[in-house]
Amino acid sequence: MDQLATPFDPKDFRRALGMFATGVTIVTTRTADGSPVGITANSFNSVSLEPPMVLWSLANNARSLPVFSGSKHWNVHILSNEQEALSNRFARAGEDKFAGLALDASAHGVPLIPECSARFQCRTAFQYEGGDHTIFVGEVLQYDSCALPPLLYVTGGYALAARKAAPVSTEPLANMDGALYSENLLGYLFGRAHFQFVHGMRGTLQQRHLSDTDFFVLSLLSVRQPLAAEEIAAHIAYTGVDLGAATLQSLVERGLLLAEGGTQPGLRLSPAGSDAILHVLAAAKVVEANLVDRMGELESAALRNLLKQAILATDPGLPKLWQAPATAPGPGLSAS
Ligand SMILES: Cc1cc2nc3c(=O)[nH]c(=O)nc-3n(C[C@H](O)[C@H](O)[C@H](O)COP(=O)(O)O)c2cc1C
Repeated sequence: MDQLATPFDPKDFRRALGMFATGVTIVTTRTADGSPVGITANSFNSVSLEPPMVLWSLANNARSLPVFSGSKHWNVHILSNEQEALSNRFARAGEDKFAGLALDASAHGVPLIPECSARFQCRTAFQYEGGDHTIFVGEVLQYDSCALPPLLYVTGGYALAARKAAPVSTEPLANMDGALYSENLLGYLFGRAHFQFVHGMRGTLQQRHLSDTDFFVLSLLSVRQPLAAEEIAAHIAYTGVDLGAATLQSLVERGLLLAEGGTQPGLRLSPAGSDAILHVLAAAKVVEANLVDRMGELESAALRNLLKQAILATDPGLPKLWQAPATAPGPGLSAS
């Protein structure tokens, strides 16, 4: 083949190619003496439905090239949202990539990694030269998939997929000349989503005569306790609620909180307080389950990711809540 001219700046060319969003796979096989081999690859693509075929390409300088070139079988694993660390592990040359990794049984003894979004067990059909890569085309012998949201790769970084919502208006409301209030205003979207979510728990809060502030205090203590009144106030200040002594006193009088004396005075949930917050959080879980059901796993994972980013980007310097608790956890609730 004639040498093709490459008049491109390699970095810029790579950046342009990175505009194409892909999933992330790990492709595995075994050496002739049975050692497992695997690499992270995002060059995977579908080729044919009938017969079922897929392809991926491997750099000619990859240490694993001779093994893949000589293998009859290889498995492609489409990684899930939870498998970013595994992707990084299989993208690094030199370490024992399979150390401590439990594998599923596979038809041809090729390593089969569990908990992936999808897996394709393939037989090599063709190999082609592709510049500085070798292209492997495989016939799919078996596959499986599940609902775990896939990990994506785009513009040089990991990402999560979310289907686009119905288009929303970007126009200011007609009766508010010059106003910037629109359906796309993030503040509006946050507020509306928050209140609609809490609306689904309102009945449980009312049955138990809990105000939003009571709920906030009880849920805080379910994650971390005991906390001094000032610490509770510091955690809650960003909501705009001025937590007077009266609220905490009332929770103690209603038997929901216990005041501890001693050298480190603090407040903790009473058994009745633990019971109340468990019921409210169970109601929140029901609202969440309905939301996930309607939106889908993919969008829910993407939403969590984006909300965490928004919380980081707007953090006014709150005390850290979800880092390793200094004290024992709350009433059987996991702080994940
Ligand atoms: C997201 C991502 C995608 C990658 N895709 C490919 C690919 O498609 N082909 C390839 O040869 N290397 C790809 N790599 C790089 C290899 O995973 C990396 O070079 C690996 O160390 C090769 O392993 P080996 O040298 O042990 O064979 C990718 C790396 C990352 C992080």
